[in-house]
Amino acid sequence: MLHVLSHPLLDSKMAIIRDKNTSTKDFKEIVDEIGMLVTYEITRNLEVKDKIVETPFETITCKTLATDIVIVPILRAGLGMVDGIRRIIPQAKVGHIGLYRNEETLVPVEYYFKLPEIKDSTTCILVDPMLATGGSCIKGIELLKSKGVKHIIYVGLVGCPEGIKAVQEAYPDVDIYMVKVDRELNDKGYILPGLGDCGDRLFGTK
Ligand code: PRP
Ligand code: URA
Repeated sequence: MLHVLSHPLLDSKMAIIRDKNTSTKDFKEIVDEIGMLVTYEITRNLEVKDKIVETPFETITCKTLATDIVIVPILRAGLGMVDGIRRIIPQAKVGHIGLYRNEETLVPVEYYFKLPEIKDSTTCILVDPMLATGGSCIKGIELLKSKGVKHIIYVGLVGCPEGIKAVQEAYPDVDIYMVKVDRELNDKGYILPGLGDCGDRLFGTK
């Protein structure tokens, strides 16, 4: 299911990172802040379990997360949101998936994959700011499933209808959380209006 995260704070921050004149430093800081803000929404449906707590006055039954969480950024751009998510879920472990798109075919090429221990109850938050053709996200989900991950949430900043449709068709069981859904892909596989090349803008490369 697609969830578009609409909020005035997110809108304001997206306006800054879409601006081509925003510096690398500001771009990274804002992506970090957006990572923090979206965490509240993307974890809304996680399972909880009872926990007995003694307050200074009484013993009560509280709720606590029933799942351990693994954040899995797709390198490089996914790294930009990890610190923000970890600030809200400090107990989360972090795995990494290294993918780059072949510039001509746009097919993702895998160069790194490492996960911490995965249990049946683990929830993986797959993080990649841009969902363009959907190829990287689909490859990321495929790799996670190959390691037995049963619960996957994908979170990104900007998607487009073509990529979202591709992921939904390939993996209808994965919830997709996006801040914005833009108009279209151009013939080079970039999202319009988009925010440019997210990895380059985060890391100051070209
Ligand atoms: C970008 C982006 C996504 C991918 C999305 O990565 O960070 O991973 O493209 O495109 P897709 O939906 O068409 O697969 P890129 O290959 O540029 O690598 P980078 O993050 O290292 O810059
Ligand atoms: N990757 C990016 O970084 N930006 C796009 O618009 C598409 C893919």
